[in-house]
Amino acid sequence: MFYQLSKITLFACLLAMLACNNNSNIPKEDEAVLFAEHIAPIIYTNCSKCHSQDGAAPFPLLSFQDIASKAKLVAYVTEKRLMPPWPADPTYTHFANETYLSAEQIQLIQRWAAGNCLPGDTASLVQPENLLKSLNLGKPDLIVKMPKPIKVPGNNTDLFMVVKVPFELPQDTFIKAIEFVPGKKRLVHHMNAHIIQFEPNKKSNLWSGQFAVNQDQTKSETIHKELNLLNDDGSYAPMTPSVCNYLPGSQFSLYPEEIGGYKIGKKNAFYLNDMHFGPSAIDEVDSSYFKIYYADKAPKRPVAEFQIGTLGLAPVEPKLIVPAREVKKFTIDFRVPADISILTIVPHMHLIGKTYLAYAIKPSGDTIRLIRINNWDFRWQYFYQPKTLLKIPRGSVIHVEGTFDNTANNPNNPFSPPREIAEKNGSMKTTDEMFQLIVTYLPWQNGDEQISQE
Ligand code: HEC
Repeated sequence: MFYQLSKITLFACLLAMLACNNNSNIPKEDEAVLFAEHIAPIIYTNCSKCHSQDGAAPFPLLSFQDIASKAKLVAYVTEKRLMPPWPADPTYTHFANETYLSAEQIQLIQRWAAGNCLPGDTASLVQPENLLKSLNLGKPDLIVKMPKPIKVPGNNTDLFMVVKVPFELPQDTFIKAIEFVPGKKRLVHHMNAHIIQFEPNKKSNLWSGQFAVNQDQTKSETIHKELNLLNDDGSYAPMTPSVCNYLPGSQFSLYPEEIGGYKIGKKNAFYLNDMHFGPSAIDEVDSSYFKIYYADKAPKRPVAEFQIGTLGLAPVEPKLIVPAREVKKFTIDFRVPADISILTIVPHMHLIGKTYLAYAIKPSGDTIRLIRINNWDFRWQYFYQPKTLLKIPRGSVIHVEGTFDNTANNPNNPFSPPREIAEKNGSMKTTDEMFQLIVTYLPWQNGDEQISQE
């Protein structure tokens, strides 16, 4: 029944789109499709942020030559919906940072590629350099580099590092945004950065100790010591969590004005508790870095974060153990203790994750849809930003359902033959599992639902 309904809705949407396309610039059947006029706008909005120098993809799609020389492949990957990667189901919810091509856009690319890739008025296009500038925030106020490059051995296995990146400032400083730029973008899979702030008189030397340790070879209790992240007296310094996160294709989340930002002091260290490098066949070194943008004013509404499921505020039910050769479903339920406004949601699972669904049920019984992923892909994990701030009233229950496929039919199964895969004490190894929903939010304020994230 629901399926029927959604088909009808889809059809209605298509009709509406066709109707408004009458006066848009979609060329008629017998007219030529031109790069500058028809194709560039699609590629620039949906592809170039990853397919550019600092992006996650291995080659640029910026100039006419870039795209024309790969026209057949571009037509193929868009038609098969392999690119742009967008795991969320657009028939369930839409997001401000959505990259999803309409059927018309896909058709246009097909026609252009089949019709000799005509350039059109390419002189009128934005130059690739300027396009790149408009795709990010411009010149940062500060660049913070790793103290040393990280060695990634060519042994074809995942590498998980915990990394300290110290930096000092002449005075207390307001920060608007922090962006992570992966060095070897083909290798850096993901990274979570927190800032540890030291009171200057409690920390004599920021730079001593190791700066990176292998997560799998170090006991978690000793990591802070080995990296020398404790105060001189052995106590923990305060930490601001998740100031910057990176996942394949994810841009740093730029929040609406007056939202987000930090005040930091003179002695600080980024603490990357989870820097994941994908397998490499050859020895490599990575020199990733941070771009920091200052703000003139103190942050008005600092962003908060919670996570549910693995290591989170509410448990996975039943315990996350997926027996060999089984497909198994798990749930997480969490009662929201106060009115909140959601800024981003991040579904998280590892390799054998298959489907993901999250919604909230209000005390009134109404449902607020969050996200549905019908075909989980470990490679694409985004910070999904609702189009406007999304209010979840106090007392609502966030419900998350996930299925995990531990059969031999799952091409992403890391083991052959399959063997039991479970959540292991928060292990982030991709061959163990995790099941989480990570939410960044603000305490709700009147008017939040009108604040756009587009
Ligand atoms: C979220 C980042 C991201 C976006 C957005 C994106 N790509 Fe990609 N693309 C990648 C990455 C990373 C790869 C490398 C292969 C892989 O990991 O699947 C890739 C690979 C490709 C390939 C090579 C595929 C192959 O089999 O060799 C093509 C062609 C391509 N992308 C075209 C596009 C087009 C066209 C768009 C927009 C309509 C787009 N991409 C949007 C990240 C992205």
